[in-house]
Amino acid sequence: MTSILKGILISAPAPGRLEVHAPGYLVLEDGVLSGVFDALPSRYDGAPVEDFGNCLITQSFTDLHLHAPQYPMVGTGMDRPLLEWLSAYAFPTEARFADEGYAREMYRRLAAELIRGGTTRVCMFSSLHRRGTLILMEELEKAGVTGLVGKVNMDRNGSPALQETTEESMRETLAWLDECASFPHIRPILTPRFTPSCTDELMAFLGRLAAERGLPIQSHLSENTAELELVRRLHPDCEQYWQTYDKFGLWNSRTVMAHCVWSDERERAAMRQAGVTAVHCADSNLNLCSGVSPVRVMLREGVKVALGSDIAGGDTLDMFDVIASTVRASKARRIMDNWETDFLTAAEGWYLGTSAGASFFGAKPGFAAGEPLHALVLDDSALPPLSAPEDRLSRFLSRRQAGAVRAVWSAGRRVV
Ligand code: GUN
Ligand code: FE
Repeated sequence: MTSILKGILISAPAPGRLEVHAPGYLVLEDGVLSGVFDALPSRYDGAPVEDFGNCLITQSFTDLHLHAPQYPMVGTGMDRPLLEWLSAYAFPTEARFADEGYAREMYRRLAAELIRGGTTRVCMFSSLHRRGTLILMEELEKAGVTGLVGKVNMDRNGSPALQETTEESMRETLAWLDECASFPHIRPILTPRFTPSCTDELMAFLGRLAAERGLPIQSHLSENTAELELVRRLHPDCEQYWQTYDKFGLWNSRTVMAHCVWSDERERAAMRQAGVTAVHCADSNLNLCSGVSPVRVMLREGVKVALGSDIAGGDTLDMFDVIASTVRASKARRIMDNWETDFLTAAEGWYLGTSAGASFFGAKPGFAAGEPLHALVLDDSALPPLSAPEDRLSRFLSRRQAGAVRAVWSAGRRVV
């Protein structure tokens, strides 16, 4: 079935480049984009057009790193550095997701908030609970969120209420993979929490599983200096943190690593060479006093970078805010680097929060023909009028606008 959307189209097909059609038309065949036009070709005469007037139609957001079972604590408890914060706040909160009723209620709310905010693709940590993880996948699927979810593996350095034995972790992971095979839009991703949480035996098991089944992998890397020291003590044979993943087969082009704040030139080169995606989480890195990541340098070096809210180290799921924080953090980095590194522009930030994240799922950048539509309609009619679509996009990032997201498409389906 043909459907046509009309509005002010603005998309980010390349870093720093915005493509504008003011107005333009998106033509969809069964939800898949078949063409982008300034004037509608006559072959579509008579086809119904949904006209969004002066609203912007943009790509939807991708959140490539967040912890679903930390949703209940968003906005609280950000007064400790990472390792203390995990024990004091994150682990006790995640432990509650052994309760399936609680998990259902929290994950339903999380999925609704993601979709309402225009996030249609995620790469997400669940907790270690197999049932809770399946509930999370169900709720995301129902709400229309697409992407990857991982049952967390952690068989050491957890808490009495939040830790598995090695055997349990392996068994539950295999059972979870069997049980989640039929979701159409939500797929599994292997999730060793981070090196301090997993024994060598568990890491080796996950590396073999990733290779045998071609599964993607997510974890954390070089977030905080105390974490780096701990990893050095646990793996004295590894000169660098990334090698603790590489030696178990967990370092390749299907790997996403959150943070990478303290990744030096050599670690960044290892990312580039292996095709690992670094997920920058600007809010979390400041909230937990982790550091200011040199994202602009990573991009210049050719490292793949995307963005994550990292709730609840990050304090918001709102990707407008996450992109604005990313731009601001890059300016802090520039100041810290004696004005020697560039900062990110709003257009670059927008690219990172949309096309860059989508590319991890194999999608082409911008509004590309052949891709199921992932898009937002943004309404700023309550604010003073601006004529340039680029300025309006920038203002959506920097100036909170309640109710700005008027419509959302995810994988070709209208979900808001
Ligand atoms: N490293 C290991 N676990 C976590 C977590 O839950 N949040 C963050 N920010 N870093 C981690
Ligand atoms: Fe995280």
